[in-house]
Amino acid sequence: MCRGVFSLGIPLIDLKAEYAELREEVLEAIDDALGSMQLFLGPNVQALEREWAEFCRTEHAVGVSDGTQALHLALRAMGIGPGDEVITVSWTFFATIEAIIHAGATPKLVDVEPEYFCMDAEALEAAITQRTRAIIPVHVYGHPADMEQLGAICEPRGIAVLEDAAQAHGATDNGRRVGSIGDAGVFSFYMSKNLAGYGEGGIVTTSDDEIAQKVKMLRDHGQAERGRFDCIGYNSRLDELQAAIVRVKLRRLAENTEKRRRHAALYDELLQHEDIITPNVRPGCEHVYHLYTIRSKRREEIKSALEAAEIAFATHYAKPPHKQPACVAYGLDRAELPVTETLAAEVISLPMYPGLSESQIQEVAETVLSALS
Ligand SMILES: Cc1ncc(COP(=O)(O)O)c(C=O)c1O
Repeated sequence: MCRGVFSLGIPLIDLKAEYAELREEVLEAIDDALGSMQLFLGPNVQALEREWAEFCRTEHAVGVSDGTQALHLALRAMGIGPGDEVITVSWTFFATIEAIIHAGATPKLVDVEPEYFCMDAEALEAAITQRTRAIIPVHVYGHPADMEQLGAICEPRGIAVLEDAAQAHGATDNGRRVGSIGDAGVFSFYMSKNLAGYGEGGIVTTSDDEIAQKVKMLRDHGQAERGRFDCIGYNSRLDELQAAIVRVKLRRLAENTEKRRRHAALYDELLQHEDIITPNVRPGCEHVYHLYTIRSKRREEIKSALEAAEIAFATHYAKPPHKQPACVAYGLDRAELPVTETLAAEVISLPMYPGLSESQIQEVAETVLSALS
């Protein structure tokens, strides 16, 4: 599915170059954390929780071990479990669906909008049943789902909204940051994300005191206070060293997001061609371009040209979750998702990271266009 993500002439992302730039700051942050030896939900986890809540404009942010657990624990904290239906999309990484199953609930899949690849509001409305307790819209590639429309459908019915913002750190919808719009939001700090550590990490954002409190308990074996286990939880705390690294990178998030936007604008300009659809941005939204993903019916020709030029690419999601073997047992392979399936045959993600140069973008664009000439 992915070719040469971290290597080749032009990689999909370049973590080595990023590290070379951040090395001193990262090593100092790690050294400080190790020097204090407060490694159990220590000062960096606590500071990151405050800083991320402030950034997202929520009351709380609770650090957890990874984005998948963030989704799972948030669902559990919202009281979602066996017998409940959770509606989401199949245009996402597998973890979104996995988390619903971990919570003991039943995933139900709806299609996405062809323009923005996010949950289709009409499809959602048609899929709601008496058992629907929550939805998980995914801000895929860094583009916000249509939170206003989705919220208008869910709110009067008492259906909870959990935003999967794993790919969308800092994206906004009508001025509101993702992660602050639904009842709760989740972010991943997996190393390739727009804000990341060098390992695993995740965080739940919410302005609901009860959800925050429950996630705190669940991440730490169900302890409400040290030594008192109120429920069966998990060992899913955010690691102090990862939190220290994420904090270093948080200082550069705004600047790096701007760079991603500039790169996307240049790609958009260079890739004008009748056989290419460049990413659309819904009016009122700010995209953060975790991925720069184009559509083309001539994807195979583009792939061959990129391969020959040693330019990395990926096809998120050539085989979406509902087509994966693990989902057959849940009947998800029978979901009718025509837009999702069209996208699966047409998408291709091009190199995108803050340190990409203009000449590299030109080289990628020329290679793509040469395939179509
Ligand atoms: C949309 C989406 N949701 C959830 C996750 C899971 O995050 P993590 O890898 O930190 O568990 C990812 C990670 O790739 C993701 O892209």
